Amino acid sequence: MTTNAHLVGWGRYIPERILTNDELTQMVDTSDEWIRARTGIAERRIASDGETTASMSIQAARRALEVARLEPSQLDLIIVATATPDYLFPATACLVQDALGATHAGAFDLAAGCTGFVYGLNVAANLISAGAHETVLIVGAETLSRIVDWHDRGTCILFSDGAGAVILQANGADGGVLSTLVGSDGSGGELLCLPGGGSRHPASHRTVAEGLHYLRMRGREVFRFAVRTMPDATRQVLKRAGLSVADLNLLIPHQANQRITDASAKSLGLPPEAIISNVEWYGNNSAASIPIALCEAVEEGRIQQDDLLVLVGFGAGLTWAATALRWSKPLPLVEPSPRKKIWTFGQKLRYRYAALRSLVRRFLRWLLSLGVKE
Ligand code: ACO
Repeated sequence: MTTNAHLVGWGRYIPERILTNDELTQMVDTSDEWIRARTGIAERRIASDGETTASMSIQAARRALEVARLEPSQLDLIIVATATPDYLFPATACLVQDALGATHAGAFDLAAGCTGFVYGLNVAANLISAGAHETVLIVGAETLSRIVDWHDRGTCILFSDGAGAVILQANGADGGVLSTLVGSDGSGGELLCLPGGGSRHPASHRTVAEGLHYLRMRGREVFRFAVRTMPDATRQVLKRAGLSVADLNLLIPHQANQRITDASAKSLGLPPEAIISNVEWYGNNSAASIPIALCEAVEEGRIQQDDLLVLVGFGAGLTWAATALRWSKPLPLVEPSPRKKIWTFGQKLRYRYAALRSLVRRFLRWLLSLGVKE
């Protein structure tokens, strides 16, 4: 019997702070009209001082576990796709693993820019199909506000923060992930790049003085790449599943710019109701955008059981990726509320225990280090 990877849980975390176009006009030479007309963005979300990629990932992951009715110890693997990890190392995925108390999970970060979440989904689906893992958490999360140059009107109007998570689980039933596609063209790497802080330009007074710690983008060229790539990747991934655009119920594209989404829909011949767009309210939160859009599609009742979905992304690298997926989880989620309350209480206790466990392990490691010194 073949093993399929089914999407069984989903969750998102959106920071509360809203940054409007009007506020941006106080910071750079721009206007609400220009931003709306050229990008479709009205406002974006910005993480508060205490929030990081890990903290937002943890919130989204907890919600995904709740939908899936899974305990953290049932996760085999955690993948966090991000271009803005808490640290270069340790991986943000390890911070998430520790906070969840996912004691049986391996964890790693995945760097593929805005495409990272779909890359992660595809890696997870193929590991599940190969029998290597049973239950995998995939998070897309970003704190782009920390690497945006707030004096650069070409980029600061676009980017934002947030996190989305899904859980894939092995199951012999039909449906789930049907086909996957990943692509890369490193010759376009400099079109969208964070030059400083790596081995090419290690952090120094010079890199800070030259602003190399800020994201740099050649927007027009990225735009052209996106408009070409998204429809191509969508058609290809459907073809791999033996399907075509005519079979598609819903396209969930990376939310970068409404004009890119519209051009992709036009090229594919899709009506507006067959394509998800929320860029107006969130801007571009990179690897987080597709799982957040997926969560909203579920909440808005835009996904029905057995629907055919394509998730398609593009981004830094340059990279692109797509997943064709047959929705297999019954919707809407209905559950008697007393049982839900008990389960939620149990899960809260597990997270408290995870925090305590982490503290005890740190303490024991400290004690051991004292012993080594002697
Ligand atoms: N307000 C007012 N004017 C502006 C602004 C602004 N915020 N930004 C640029 N302009 C000006 C430019 O200076 C230029 O003026 P000029 O003609 O006098 O030189 C003019 O507007 C046109 O500039 P373009 O860059 O050609 O504008 P364009 O229509 O391409 O829109 C944008 C720029 C919105 C950045 C667009 O190119 C875009 O969305 N590109 C894709 C970006 C993207 O999706 N990036 C994410 C990739 S995924 C990831 O991995 C992060």
